[in-house]
Amino acid sequence: MVGLTHLLAKAWLLPLVYGASQSVIYSTSAARPQFTIPASAETGAQLIANIDDPQAVNAQSVCPGYKASNVQRSSRGFTADLNLAGEPCNAYGTDVDSLTLTVEYQDSDRLNIQILPTYIDASNASWYLLSESIVPRPQASLNASVSQSDFQVSWSNEPSFNFKVIRKATGDVLFDTEGSVLVYEDQFIEFVTALPEEYNLYGLGEHITQLRLLRDATLTMWASDDGTPIDGNIYGQHPFYLDTRYFKANEKNGTYTPVKSSEANASQEYVSYSHGVFLRNSHGLEVLLRSQNLTWRTLGGGIDLTFYSGPTQADVTKQYQLSTVGLPTMQAYHTLGFHQCRWGYTNWSELADVVSTFEKFEIPLEYIWSDIDYMLEYRNFENDPNRFSYSEGEEFLSQLHDSGRHYVPIVDAAIYIPDPNNASDAYETYSRGAAEDIFLKNPDGSLYIGAVWPGYTVFPDWHHPKAVDYWTNELVIWSKKVAFDGIWCDMNEVSSFCIGSCGSGNLSLNPVSGTTLPGAPGNIIFDYPEAFNITNATEAASASAGAASQAAATATTTSTSVSYLSRTEPTPGVRNVEYPPYVINNVQDGHDLSAHAVTPNATHADGVQEYDVHSLFGHQELNATYQALLEVWSGQRRPFIIGRSTFAGSGKWAGHWGGDNYSKWWSMYFSISQALSFSLFGIPMFGSDSCGFTGNTDEELCNRWMQLSAFFPFYRNHNELSTIPQEPYRWASVIDATKSAMKIRYAILPYFYTLFDLAHTTGSIVLRALAWEFPNDPTLAAIDTQFLVGPSIMVIPVLEPLVDTVKGVFPGVGHGEVWYDWYTQTAVDAKPGVNTTISAPLGHIPVYVRGGSILPMQEPALTTRDARKTPWALLAALGSNETAAGQVYIDDGQSIYPSATLHVDFTASRSRVQASARGTWKERNPLANVTVLGVDAQPSAVTLNGQEVSSESVSYNSTSQVLFVGGLQNLTRGGAWAENWVLEW
Ligand SMILES: *[C@@H]1O[C@H](CO)[C@@H](O)[C@H](O)[C@H]1NC(C)=O
Ligand SMILES: *[C@@H]1O[C@H](CO)[C@@H](O)[C@H](O)[C@H]1NC(C)=O
Repeated sequence: MVGLTHLLAKAWLLPLVYGASQSVIYSTSAARPQFTIPASAETGAQLIANIDDPQAVNAQSVCPGYKASNVQRSSRGFTADLNLAGEPCNAYGTDVDSLTLTVEYQDSDRLNIQILPTYIDASNASWYLLSESIVPRPQASLNASVSQSDFQVSWSNEPSFNFKVIRKATGDVLFDTEGSVLVYEDQFIEFVTALPEEYNLYGLGEHITQLRLLRDATLTMWASDDGTPIDGNIYGQHPFYLDTRYFKANEKNGTYTPVKSSEANASQEYVSYSHGVFLRNSHGLEVLLRSQNLTWRTLGGGIDLTFYSGPTQADVTKQYQLSTVGLPTMQAYHTLGFHQCRWGYTNWSELADVVSTFEKFEIPLEYIWSDIDYMLEYRNFENDPNRFSYSEGEEFLSQLHDSGRHYVPIVDAAIYIPDPNNASDAYETYSRGAAEDIFLKNPDGSLYIGAVWPGYTVFPDWHHPKAVDYWTNELVIWSKKVAFDGIWCDMNEVSSFCIGSCGSGNLSLNPVSGTTLPGAPGNIIFDYPEAFNITNATEAASASAGAASQAAATATTTSTSVSYLSRTEPTPGVRNVEYPPYVINNVQDGHDLSAHAVTPNATHADGVQEYDVHSLFGHQELNATYQALLEVWSGQRRPFIIGRSTFAGSGKWAGHWGGDNYSKWWSMYFSISQALSFSLFGIPMFGSDSCGFTGNTDEELCNRWMQLSAFFPFYRNHNELSTIPQEPYRWASVIDATKSAMKIRYAILPYFYTLFDLAHTTGSIVLRALAWEFPNDPTLAAIDTQFLVGPSIMVIPVLEPLVDTVKGVFPGVGHGEVWYDWYTQTAVDAKPGVNTTISAPLGHIPVYVRGGSILPMQEPALTTRDARKTPWALLAALGSNETAAGQVYIDDGQSIYPSATLHVDFTASRSRVQASARGTWKERNPLANVTVLGVDAQPSAVTLNGQEVSSESVSYNSTSQVLFVGGLQNLTRGGAWAENWVLEW
């Protein structure tokens, strides 16, 4: 969860007991008088963000740029010296005199351009270039050459050094710094590329924003624990974008004419070319998207740009993952089941109640989660002995595991540091880390002591050679007391609730305390979704009265006087890491880099300052946690990790949830774009807190959201402390809606799992934007209100209250694409490019199967374990050419290196469906039935491998054109794919 302290009165923590009854009772065990950190401890400098500063220097107008010389060519590219072309401007730091340019054609589809300081010497000794041990550089393949590449690089010294990256196939200029100057200073690097009018860019995370990025936005990157403000920098840093360009191909002369998506027509023929751009840089960053250009600004590091030539979106993301950030970790099968969580599950028996209530209502549940409630005074790796005792936990978890279910607890990044003079406050997790000296330091070598939930805390230093061993050891020890099945990594931006090392000299006060947690007096949550005032007028009126009186009562304590520092100043020759001369638009209070985070001058074991690597903390913690779980499970199970802060490449180890979203319709809408962006970043295991985290939900929103999330890879319901309960069984309509969506999800789990296998082995993506699956239709470029699961399932969710219809487009229908309604199994009658009105009463989520697909399915069950024991079914949806294809991947669902695997390919044509398997996994469950959609004539007889299927088991509906062939169990007793088969009619 977000540190809420900065949202409201900045007081501190009190131990609290949260009852299922919704009443908040303060524990009397907190008898010890506790020190309250004053609100001022979290107030940093109040700075004007550079982009908002009318007096800000425009580096483009004052800086001299560079001149290239000494060009050396090789078969793989060229190098050149870049020297400052005039007097240094020192706009936001100290200009670097000489740079080295390296242009390397790394592979036929990949180009790298690096511009680095030629000398890292005494004058800039603190220069930090992102370490290859943390984020590897893409490597050149052995036979890479200039001539093979789809790219061509040209450069010029007029009026100063600039370069272009051109796509040979189209002659299109993809990246073009002409008309701008290169600015290269110790704390500020700026370069600009021109972009075509109405460009289509995607990515640049992590932000809550539209899927297709706005053309007038500034996207800041600096890992930040700050809820999910629209367009603000939040938890992760992914300096990667996809750029899609549409053309009309002129057949007569072989040229391409650019096409704006706003002027395209879905029934015409276009082509598209996509490429990707990755800036390998961990510093605070800003990307200025303007109408026809894009500006990169970083607070340090180097220019290390990789271009991926595509030409399709699928190619780009595969190239990015395979060469640069790595393929996503393979998820265990059961992680695709449903996850229930909330902040405020007070003890083991409350968790047990939740599980049994799911059972009672026969709603599938796979994982139950614990937020920080289980901890003893919010300390990592220590359970509260009264509410979450190890002995009771052992019993609960053993029953949970017997029922086929799993448990995930939260782990925070910070480690409580006890008062050294209070023996009764000793904390072994701290002592063991202190003994190895593995915590972050202040510049003077003393411990860096911030504050998080437990009070004053220290932070593991992932640059310390023993930090991973330390973390592993802690998780191993704790795993012997709590048999968890995954780890949820939170607060790893890394978050801290005070400015600087506020605990230094103050440890005798620990555990410090005293916040207004959600639900406590002064912080009662009165917020509800939009339209609650219409659907629940009386309750809404009383909530709004409550909110008003609370606001009046707390008004005096929350008013702050904001005084803006005019601006920061350049400090020639000296890096100012706390107040760099260029102020990024950090979303935190006052834009101070220290606000709500460990401060930039915190120092790592190798001397690197947090300033240079801040956004990598979460990435390295996820790596450590991954390695720890390998150890905990002796390499026998795939680590399951959901992390909040991620960096380019975190998908190798972890999935991600959308963070502290809101119980609001807008927040549900943005979850789609966030999910699709993480598809591009190589983190397919993504989901948002269904029904919303912050604020109270309501029945209608929760109903729609439980249905939407059923089609996201990671499917979890999670909720803020003290808000109304929102498990799907809380409202009759939500029970029905959830079960109906889960019925589809659990039926297609084999399809989901196969998509994950493909992501893990090839870099293909799971959730897909329409524009990516249909690259030749510019009218789809901005669609983020509907999406695809893999290539075959399209979801058109309702994203607004008080409606019973939704509008959606059916891509490709002008070009032979067929879509079948999941529920009626009949082909949809839609026109190209027409926003079709679809009936979607509450409880119904429109889902479509794409013609040409064959979906492997099993029967829904309350757990994936039980679902995997059911007979198979195939759904073959014939395309307009009366063919279809599909596949399934099967293994034991959890081994890292499964000893047996099976791949089955399916094909269908006019009057037959075929299955052919390869691999050694023995799948014992029989095939129950095959459903074929789009069969235009009543078959006379149906055979499986020549044996006639009893006509009683066959039905055909000439109106819907659905052929159903049941009764196949007897013919496939040895297993659905034990032998290859042909079903004919
Ligand atoms: C980028 O575009 C903006 C808005 O059109 C313009 O003001 C600015 O001068 C451009 N920058 C460069 C370097 O061309
Ligand atoms: C190629 O053909 C297109 C369409 O007819 C035309 O607009 C364009 O100017 C032509 N380009 C060249 C280089 O001939």
